Amino acid sequence: MSHFLTSPALLAGLRAAAEPTRLRLLRICAQGELTVGEITRVIAQSQPRVSRHLKILCDAGLLVRFRERHWVFYRVPLSGPEAELVGNILQNLAIEDSEFLVDQQRLEDVLAERARLASGYSAELRQPSVSDEQLSAAVRKLLGSRPVGDLLDIGTGTGRLLRFLGESAEQAVGVDISSKMLLVARSNLHSAGLSQCMVRHANMYQLPFTNASFDTITIDDVLNEAEDPAAAVAEAARILRATGCLLLIEKIPSANGVGDPENTGPERWLGDAGLGCSASMLVPEKHPAVVLCLGQKKDAAERAA
Ligand SMILES: C[S@@+](CC[C@H](N)C(=O)[O-])C[C@H]1O[C@@H](n2cnc3c(N)ncnc32)[C@H](O)[C@@H]1O
Repeated sequence: MSHFLTSPALLAGLRAAAEPTRLRLLRICAQGELTVGEITRVIAQSQPRVSRHLKILCDAGLLVRFRERHWVFYRVPLSGPEAELVGNILQNLAIEDSEFLVDQQRLEDVLAERARLASGYSAELRQPSVSDEQLSAAVRKLLGSRPVGDLLDIGTGTGRLLRFLGESAEQAVGVDISSKMLLVARSNLHSAGLSQCMVRHANMYQLPFTNASFDTITIDDVLNEAEDPAAAVAEAARILRATGCLLLIEKIPSANGVGDPENTGPERWLGDAGLGCSASMLVPEKHPAVVLCLGQKKDAAERAA
């Protein structure tokens, strides 16, 4: 869909972009979410100066700014007329220009440092019970042909579900309570070239989204160890659209595997949140290690059945 700006807004956007440092800022912030400290290292100017340019770009809507604990992040907007304006400007930019090449090298250095930190944190994580290939194939099979639409991954951790589904989503957001895991997810998303995915700090019991905001919500390997899984699923159901689906993926507690997903947690949690389980799957088929349950609001589940 094409979006249009009013003439004063378009002029404000063009004026904001029409300055050499701000053009460089747009280019680097289009590649992912960066803190003001990281941006300053790439641009190699004083922080107050960089902050002044960032403010002008934010005021014109060409950048968005968000706070995550002690850090302030910037990125280009993902949707709306300003996102299109930034996209159009950057599309016309020849990046062979030596200044842009230097920026790109410094950005790669900043991101490599993030990746080093992230791999230290990832080393502390336990190995997933099924491979990425197996899980990704199962998720796609269970979702079938339904569009992913606006996607939220709760307890995103390494950003695994965003990597599986982010490319097919209109918008993709991952939330996690751990700053370390957000760094891991951001680093993995950058390596996968998924700059359209966002990650945000949030608690799954109190999500910062209005009712009925998402078409697809995933919760992968989070609930078995949660204090109150039913409350987390109820909170996810609150922000799920009427025709949307909530995909729960959990390890099967018994080492031998359980043949009947009805007796496992996910189906019960969905039921308690007023959702019906419209499909489920055990993975791998032979010696199942995880169960996938697709929840839908009751009317939608009845129509699907
Ligand atoms: C075992 S990891 C699984 C992560 C991810 N789904 C993956 O496959 O990489 C569980 C994640 O849930 C997050 N988490 C735990 N409690 C949370 C809460 N209350 N709100 C948001 N995230 C939470 C943890 O920080 C951790 O990243």
